[in-house]
Amino acid sequence: MANTFPRWSNTLPLKLLVCFLFVGAGVAGAVNYYFTQKYTRVGYMPSQPIPFSHKIHVGQLGMDCRYCHSFVEQSGHANVPASSTCWNCHQHVKTNSPYIAQIRESVETGKPLEWVKVHNTPDYAYFNHSVHVTSGVSCVSCHGKINEMPVVFHDQSQSMGWCLECHRAPENHLRPMDKVTQLDWTAKSEGKDQQEMGQKLKDAWHIEPPVNCAGCHR
Ligand code: HEC
Ligand code: HEC
Ligand code: HEC
Ligand code: HEC
Ligand code: HEC
Repeated sequence: MANTFPRWSNTLPLKLLVCFLFVGAGVAGAVNYYFTQKYTRVGYMPSQPIPFSHKIHVGQLGMDCRYCHSFVEQSGHANVPASSTCWNCHQHVKTNSPYIAQIRESVETGKPLEWVKVHNTPDYAYFNHSVHVTSGVSCVSCHGKINEMPVVFHDQSQSMGWCLECHRAPENHLRPMDKVTQLDWTAKSEGKDQQEMGQKLKDAWHIEPPVNCAGCHR
């Protein structure tokens, strides 16, 4: 009978306790990190290698997003432009600016400018950029008024709840395809009601965004 419980079992409760404490601390830390990150994410505005202004290039010069973000309609991941895109203009414009000198150097050496990423969806959630852009969801719904930003910042939380809020009622956001990159456009500006117009588009295009877990966690 003496060997029913092996010797190590005496220390098992202690080991379990220690183990739980560590896991517990880990979970608490993760939760803390996660919520802190989500909370502070809105407004996140990292400094960039060159003070590139969307307010000047889009707001004042009237450039379309797709001139620089050339793959937004084709690719699952959006792209930032290569320096050669900037060089199309800046080999002639503001050539005496020290920032433009940085662009020239990048074009000549082939070393890309190291733009700091602002938005980031974690790997465990599936997000395809072009699906949204080609379903009539405007950049402004997810990134805010980029055309007014001298420096890009995180305008929307882009949390899971935020994704779901739109997936449950996409009619609040859908707009005609040719207005997707027109950030100042609203249904109202054409005397229409957003929900009514959105519902029509939703029906016509058979829009049915996933709301089940496996739709986004594949
Ligand atoms: C002249 C080129 C140019 C045009 C036009 C342009 N962008 Fe950008 N965009 C950039 C560059 C360069 C960056 C990276 C540096 C930065 O974040 O400012 C960027 C960054 C961004 C980011 C942040 C990306 C990240 O790191 O998460 C968003 C969002 C964005 N642009 C949206 C837009 C939208 C919407 C439009 C049209 C209304 C637009 N851009 C037009 C050049 C451009
Ligand atoms: C369609 C032409 C065009 C393209 C493409 C373009 N720019 Fe510009 N950019 C301009 C013009 C015009 C100005 C000057 C605006 C003003 O000051 O009135 C300017 C101003 C600037 C300035 C301010 C310079 C200073 O010292 O005042 C920076 C920095 C800049 N651009 C960076 C970029 C970057 C980076 C890209 C590529 C992502 C880019 N530009 C693409 C036309 C362009
Ligand atoms: C449904 C929401 C949604 C719409 C609509 C949307 N974006 Fe995004 N965008 C995101 C999310 C989420 C990310 C981060 C994705 C990631 O980390 O893979 C992102 C990332 C980006 C990036 C960063 C790419 C990189 O890797 O640095 C750029 C640039 C961008 N978007 C531009 C645009 C432009 C321009 C439009 C309109 C034509 C647009 N987005 C429309 C949600 C959206
Ligand atoms: C402003 C509205 C809006 C927001 C915000 C939004 N979506 Fe969507 N999503 C849509 C629409 C519209 C579709 C297209 C559905 C269709 O065609 O039936 C879609 C489709 C999808 C699909 C299915 C298509 C595919 O790529 O396989 C996935 C997955 C998805 N979204 C993930 C996300 C995630 C993750 C987020 C948050 C980071 C997000 N969405 C935020 C509107 C939105
Ligand atoms: C529309 C897309 C979408 C759907 C549907 C979805 N998720 Fe998520 N989920 C996300 C995104 C995006 C994140 C990352 C959020 C962030 O970075 O803030 C996430 C994060 C999470 C996380 C990490 C912690 C948290 O609370 O954010 C868990 C756990 C999770 N999802 C579980 C689920 C479960 C369970 C379901 C089904 C009931 C579900 N998700 C449905 C997009 C989705």
